[in-house]
Amino acid sequence: MTIRKAAQEDHPSIYHLVWTAFATARVSDGTEQDFVLELRRRDTYRPDLELVAEENGQLIGHILLTPLPVPGAPEGLRGLMAAPLCVRLEDRNRGLGGQLLHEGGRRAAELGYNALFLVGDPEYYGRYGFRNAVSLGFQNASGVPDPFLLARSLNPDGFQEAGGMLNLH
Ligand SMILES: CC(C)(COP(=O)(O)OP(=O)(O)OC[C@H]1O[C@@H](n2cnc3c(N)ncnc32)[C@H](O)[C@@H]1OP(=O)(O)O)[C@@H](O)C(=O)NCCC(=O)NCCS
Repeated sequence: MTIRKAAQEDHPSIYHLVWTAFATARVSDGTEQDFVLELRRRDTYRPDLELVAEENGQLIGHILLTPLPVPGAPEGLRGLMAAPLCVRLEDRNRGLGGQLLHEGGRRAAELGYNALFLVGDPEYYGRYGFRNAVSLGFQNASGVPDPFLLARSLNPDGFQEAGGMLNLH
């Protein structure tokens, strides 16, 4: 299994992967594959932070990290929204979701980003270092219950200062 940058030629396979993976998600609105298309159209889209996991010529996982403005955040906060994340049904529970989060975070830190934010299940993301964003000091403008708004610092010593409005969409 390798994790690499997504190429333009991968886009149709990614659409299919995201669509089928979210069809078996615990929570889905059925539009995550179109959300990927929308994120790619944004000015903030960074192709170097769209990653795929590949094995035997098949795409089996995907993550997209998109720069996220955080109004009112402490000077120096450079955040990314991590969404969506998915792994093909047949390849779950092998740690691939964790590896995509880890590799995305590693590449993001190399590029100067220092925080990841997402809306997701705290039980799952908690195992990969994500914490309740509101408890850390961020404000929730994302229209989801506080427990699902999560943050992870990419600094080894965590958030020194946290704050600002998180509007993930
Ligand atoms: C969520 C997802 C990316 C996890 O991928 P994965 O490669 O199987 O994850 P990992 O191998 O890193 O972790 C698997 C573990 O997390 C657990 N887990 C998976 N989803 C979970 C959830 N929503 N809540 C709590 N635990 C969860 C699994 O039961 C497994 O537990 P175990 O190690 O004790 O057996 C994958 O299930 C998926 O693509 N789901 C559909 C899309 C989706 O829901 N994406 C997340 C949107 S926020």
